[in-house]
Amino acid sequence: MSQATTSGFTVDLSGQVALVTGASRGIGRSIALALGQSGAKVACVARNRDKLAETVAAITAAGGTAEAFECDVTSSDSVTKVVESVVEKWGQLDILVNNAGITRDTLIPRMTDEQWDEVLNTNLRGSFLFTRAATGPMLQKRYGRIINIASVSGANMGNPGQANYSASKAGLIGMTRTVARELAKRKITVNAVAPGFIETEMTGAMGDSILGEIKSKIPANRLGTADEVAGAVLFLASKAAGYITGDCITVDGGMTA
Ligand code: NAI
Repeated sequence: MSQATTSGFTVDLSGQVALVTGASRGIGRSIALALGQSGAKVACVARNRDKLAETVAAITAAGGTAEAFECDVTSSDSVTKVVESVVEKWGQLDILVNNAGITRDTLIPRMTDEQWDEVLNTNLRGSFLFTRAATGPMLQKRYGRIINIASVSGANMGNPGQANYSASKAGLIGMTRTVARELAKRKITVNAVAPGFIETEMTGAMGDSILGEIKSKIPANRLGTADEVAGAVLFLASKAAGYITGDCITVDGGMTA
């Protein structure tokens, strides 16, 4: 398989190797599937290998190639080992998608040290660790695509209850811009995608009344789908996006327009 589509969008990533963190469900699963259907070999990363089996099976069923890699993105040793294993197995790493992320929402007076640290460690440190590890093989090949999944919370606006989360995502965008400048000469692009409200288990936990209120503030009058985020990632991963770096694409149905 060399080509496939996400929402009708076709990209050829055959011969390339991709790594997606948080690939067991939600947005990460859709991204892994889109990259796999486009011909890339996909390393699917999450903490629980069993939970990754379904994503790997879906890519394989679509005629693609994928393997599960168990890893907590906050662990430096574990991240280094995963990248080494991927390169050992497939000889290269072309596309890195830092998608793993968590929320621990509460208003600032009640936010605990643990809630702050957990979110910053997963969303920001995890992306730093994978970016650092992936630049080795990318610099060697003088080619790469790094795509960081940020959020409108942090990128475009604040969001009450999310001081930790929006700090992590704003930090991720700062890191995106700086690493983009560091690696541009080596044909490695570094970009972010900032989703608005997307239908996943993360937003499902918010409850119907909050989601109804949110929908009324979105010009498109609906939540986005994980596939619509995957479409933006697929574009940034493609050769067509070779001159775009240090940018952040917002995917929010016009919410922050
Ligand atoms: P989700 O909760 O459905 O999935 C998160 C994934 O990250 C899971 O596979 C989980 O196992 C993995 N993960 C979490 N901590 C990890 C760790 N320490 N090590 C390895 N894997 C870990 O979340 P969803 O909704 O799919 O979000 C994906 C990304 O998109 C996150 O970075 C999130 O912040 C971002 N995002 C989501 C939005 C939404 O509306 N769902 C909106 C804006 C951004």
